[in-house]
Amino acid sequence: MMDTYILGIESSCDDTSAAVLKNNKILANVVANQDVHKFYGGVVPELASRAHQQNIIPVIHRALDIAKINKNQLNAVAFTNGPGLLGSLLVGASFAKSFSMALGIPLIEVNHMHAHILAHFIDDPQQPEKPEFPFLCLTVSGGHTQIMLIKDYFNMQVIGQTIDDAAGEAFDKAAKIMGLPYPGGPLIDKLAKEGNPNAIKFPHPNIPDLDFSFSGLKTSILYFLRDRLKENPDFIEQHKADLSASIQHTIIEILMHKLRKAAHQTGIKHVAIAGGVSANSGLRNAMIQESDASGWKVYIPKFEYSTDNAAMIAITGYFKYVKGDFASQKLTPFTRYSD
Ligand code: KG4
Ligand code: ZN
Repeated sequence: MMDTYILGIESSCDDTSAAVLKNNKILANVVANQDVHKFYGGVVPELASRAHQQNIIPVIHRALDIAKINKNQLNAVAFTNGPGLLGSLLVGASFAKSFSMALGIPLIEVNHMHAHILAHFIDDPQQPEKPEFPFLCLTVSGGHTQIMLIKDYFNMQVIGQTIDDAAGEAFDKAAKIMGLPYPGGPLIDKLAKEGNPNAIKFPHPNIPDLDFSFSGLKTSILYFLRDRLKENPDFIEQHKADLSASIQHTIIEILMHKLRKAAHQTGIKHVAIAGGVSANSGLRNAMIQESDASGWKVYIPKFEYSTDNAAMIAITGYFKYVKGDFASQKLTPFTRYSD
């Protein structure tokens, strides 16, 4: 069979990324992060779309350079069509549409959350084992928290989700309360390594079924710190490691509790994690421990495929290319998740 070259483009939030795939292997995966949001406590949509506009062409050039291929060798262009920020999505979508039209090659739309999961199927010599269907995936990012039942590449069902904040949002909001810059998740992860996860007990939500809630945690952290800061204005500074470790531990416990419940209910022992929060070292360890304790076969993505990247868009694009599932030029981006 002839080789297939796919260009993947990701611009749903605050990372501009382009990747080139040869069949299911990555030739290049370039990510430009946006520093402009650092001191706003979250992504500022207008600043994000402006930065995407500045980054998109250089990032694609760089990806083609690294892959050592010419744009005329590309067989298709895959891009994130949602969910995400509308202004950000539009930059990637418009570029992908014009590029596919100019080159006369198919356009492929990709659902960002499905792509996080399908990143597990990138052919990587360091991670030769691919998940076996059916498997469960805890998909945890800045905007979403879902437990998915994956029956096939394109047969995925949400069996649990957050009713308010996402897990990544819980990390970022906790970090903001502690005075840390955005995105706070990786900083809490780092600080937590020096702290005691049982130093502070935060309550767990009581939500039915396989659903999650994280807004209560944010409120408990706020009240807890308000009281402590009255007695000691330096409380956060003096306890940031214990605070981080305890917050991280609480989030992981909430996630793992429902994931165990899902495994129990479905009888499925093949369990994956995906999305930005799957980069968290505590969550990764909790999965490994669970695999020892419950006999799960766990799948943990490589670090660079956890947070937003275009390699995951390109691999999803590759599977759709093989199926002949192409998109129309008339397609418009969507902001909220749908199956
Ligand atoms: O998937 P992602 O890169 O973007 C979205 O689709 O939202 O996820 C970003 C989220 C942010 O909330 C960020 O704080 C969180 O993932 N994150 C982490 C870590 N790395 C990224 N959270 C905890 N620990 C980490 N190491
Ligand atoms: Zn994401």
